[in-house]
Amino acid sequence: MNDTFLRACRGEPVDYTPVWIMRQAGRYLPDYQKVRQGVDFLTLCKTPELAAEVTIQPVDILGVDAAILFSDILIPLEPMGLKLRFLERKGPVIGPPVRRMRDVERLRVIEPARDVPFVLDTIRILRRRLRRKVPLIGFSGAPFTLATYMIEGGSSKNFLETKRMMFSAPPVFHALMDKITDTTIEYLSAQVKAGAQAVQIFDSWAGALAPDDYRSYSLPYVKRIIEALGSFDVPLIYFVNNCGGLLELVRTSGADVIGIDWRVDMGRAITRLGKDLPVQGNLDPLALFSEPELLRRKVEDIIRKGRRARGHIFNLGHGILPQTPPEMAKTLVEMVHEISMR
Ligand code: CP3
Repeated sequence: MNDTFLRACRGEPVDYTPVWIMRQAGRYLPDYQKVRQGVDFLTLCKTPELAAEVTIQPVDILGVDAAILFSDILIPLEPMGLKLRFLERKGPVIGPPVRRMRDVERLRVIEPARDVPFVLDTIRILRRRLRRKVPLIGFSGAPFTLATYMIEGGSSKNFLETKRMMFSAPPVFHALMDKITDTTIEYLSAQVKAGAQAVQIFDSWAGALAPDDYRSYSLPYVKRIIEALGSFDVPLIYFVNNCGGLLELVRTSGADVIGIDWRVDMGRAITRLGKDLPVQGNLDPLALFSEPELLRRKVEDIIRKGRRARGHIFNLGHGILPQTPPEMAKTLVEMVHEISMR
């Protein structure tokens, strides 16, 4: 098996820089569109054979060094007791929104084998099908990011209701975060037991917090998850989108690998994190819309800077856009391999 990705996560020597792409299975791939034409997104997530199929597509089409489970960070919200829908234009809609202590008390901590068996079945199918290919990454949302969806009822720009609760009803906010954290520990542990060989925690919206608030309202819960998963021998990647103001704090999370978004210079990020911590990232997803020569310069720069860290996994700084030409994603993977092999 190609274990370059796992080796880089552990800071071991590698022959080249491994690469995978956040949201690598998705609408920019015609092969995904084809599967998706027959089913809605949630049904796709809940049908192990299909979820496994779209998980493997980017491995075969792009030649990436890791597969990531096809699912969504919002999947556990349904068994916690909320209604979840994905609307074609609007994105996720969650209800009823969690606003008061009563709402938090009604939420359940999930039991993965009973509540999300399809996720664990997908992982088991994937481990068999990926045996001679690449490692499988499991994932979850970070508690703060999941809390924003539960409190706002969907995506948000300013996180008004979330911050209102944080600042004016901290016991409610912390009770909610406790419940999400317990669920996430159960969820990620079950994924690892089913066969996930690394896990990534997505804190997509923590970058909206002031550093002191990140320290109080997000980081402690992430630390609890990372500590709880410490007994498993799998690398844990922590990705904070918009991490520029938070890196010194993110560093204390206990994660094995830190994911970096593109708004930070990779060299500066490594200096701030300390060279001992493997990093993942951090090409601007929109760089895939530039001419190949410009793309190459950007990729070379990130790889050169990444060499200063104990390990580097190449990735985009956030998810790939649906409008991305699939050939450009393939070109990127080839470039990373070729440039780093020298
Ligand atoms: O990376 C992968 O290929 C694995 C699958 C994956 C999806 N979502 C599939 C998906 C992963 C790891 C996620 C994580 C996720 N989901 C995050 C964290 C990462 C990030 O982007 O910051 C967040 C915030 C979500 C929530 C979410 N899911 C939103 C806001 C949306 C709607 C926006 C959109 O892109 O449509 C989704 C839907 C979603 N999740 C799609 C996919 C492929 C599109 C669904 C479709 O086919 O219509």
